[in-house]
Formats: sequence, C-alpha cells, structure tokens
Amino acid sequence: MNLNELRNQYQHISSINFSEHEDGMIHINVCNAHASGSICLYGAHVMSFTPAGEEDILWMSTESYRKKGKPLRGGVPLCWPWFGAHPQDESLPAHGLARLADWEFNSASETLESTIVELKLTSGDYSKKYWSNDFELLYRVSIGKELKLELTTTNTGSADFSIAEALHTYFNISDISNIRVSGFDGCAYTDTLTCTEEVQQGDITFNAETDRIYHDPAPESVIHDPGKSRKIINLRSNSRSAVMWNPWIAKSQRMPDFGDREYPGMLCVETANVRKNALTIKPGATHSMSAMISSIKQ
Ligand code: BG6
Repeated sequence: MNLNELRNQYQHISSINFSEHEDGMIHINVCNAHASGSICLYGAHVMSFTPAGEEDILWMSTESYRKKGKPLRGGVPLCWPWFGAHPQDESLPAHGLARLADWEFNSASETLESTIVELKLTSGDYSKKYWSNDFELLYRVSIGKELKLELTTTNTGSADFSIAEALHTYFNISDISNIRVSGFDGCAYTDTLTCTEEVQQGDITFNAETDRIYHDPAPESVIHDPGKSRKIINLRSNSRSAVMWNPWIAKSQRMPDFGDREYPGMLCVETANVRKNALTIKPGATHSMSAMISSIKQ
C-alpha cells in the first residue's frame, strides 16, 4: 500500500497518521493519551517511544543512514534470522535480512489504553536472496503507557529452520558513565570483545567499550539513570539472551553512521535469542519473543 492508500484505509484510527520521508520511507506516527511514537515501515523499525510528559525512551543517531539498503542506527532494529555476522558468509548483511526489508502494514487498532500496529514480512524474492526458507514474520507494536514489542516467526515451509533474533533496543540515557543496569547479578555471559566466558557480579556499570551476551538472565532488567531522574524497565518473554552494547570512543569513530561524540547518550540492552539460545522452528510451528518497556520517574 502506498501513502494515500494507508491514509484512506486507516483514517478511522485517530491516534495514527502516516508521513513520507527520505528515500520514500513511510513512518507510522502514533499519538495517544499515554505516549507518542513512530515506526518506519522500512525495517519495521520503531524509532521513538515517548511516554506523555517524558523524554524519548529510545535513542536515534543524528548520523543514521536514511537510505534503503542500509540499516537505521538507533531505535529498535530487528535482527533476524541471524545475529551479527552471518555464521558462514560474511558478505551477507550483518544482523540478517529483516531490518533491511520493506515490511507490509498488516493492521492497526486502538483502545483507551494503547494503539496497536501490526507489520508483516513474508518470504519471497527479497528474502530468498539471503535465506532460502519459507516464513512469515509478524511484528506487533503496542504504544501506550508501555511499549510492547512482539515478534512472531512462523515456519511456512516444509523443512526445519534455525533462527537467531534480537530486538536491538537503543535506550536514551543521560550519560553511560553514570548509569547502572540491574537484573544480571550472577548471570553467565560471553564477553564478545575478549571471547571469554564470565559471570556478572552485582550491577553492570560502564567505563569502556562493552559487547556482551548474557545467557538465561532473569526476565526483568532495569536501567537506573539518575541524570534523567528515571528508571527504564525491560521485561522480556520467550527470550533467553540479552545483549549489552556500547561502542565507546574508538568504535564510534569507526562507524560512519554513528556520531563520534554520541556514545555517552545510548545503551543497547537487547531482548534476544542468540548463540546457544538460537531456535529451531519446525514446519507449521510458531515462536514469539517479546519485550515490554516502561519507565518510572524518580
Ligand atoms: C550489537 C553487537 O548487538 O550490535 C555489536 O553485539 C555490534 O557487536 C552492534 O557492533 C551494532 O551492529 P550494527 O550491524 O548495527 O553496526
């Protein structure tokens, strides 16, 4: 559907409007009594979630590409069906095909509590360039007091397939050096930078580049941000991995789509199933992973 068709079909949903941006990207803009937010149809990329009276919970880079074929930097990129570099072929796009795809607008609805948008991606010419399997992906985004994200994978083919997946959430924070993250005490993790296996002691704090995969953490984690006088709570379900990432100084400078001085204002805490928690999905079977994100003012 093009912009006008979307506007006509969904004009009865008063908390949604559509706008067109760089490279023909369509944004779904939501504004209701509890929050506002925006989702880019390209990549099914949630770019913003701002509870009423607060600052955005999500972070977007001012240097992000806004061009199809490149991922957006910030918000919630969807990593699927692989995470990071492709395990066999590094020429394939990092983090999989979903964040570079043109998704379909499937449905929208609203209640007094929230506005719900559902986007869909089905296997076809685009996906088969990168991955041979038949699938349907449904992404349900609910914007209200909380942001609820649910990614559902269905195997529509006749053979098993394996997926890794992540809701690669970039949180907007005051200063990486002054925040802490609770919820991981005692949890085993792989330090991707040193390739070592470690166990978290106490809360997580940051003073250097950080890239870690936590295995089987408790479902809830909290970012404590005294600089913004708030806590951000992330409640995961059907997710057995959590990725923690901040590129710090040198890596920020190497990334063309990330400002050299932006790293203190962001932290990725990703709801995921990766590495040893990757999944096998049988023909006809469905798997859903979700995150519920909310904030408390302090
Ligand atoms: C994180 C990874 O999830 O994503 C990092 O753990 C990676 O290793 C980061 O650098 C950003 O990836 P990309 O492909 O969006 O630059």
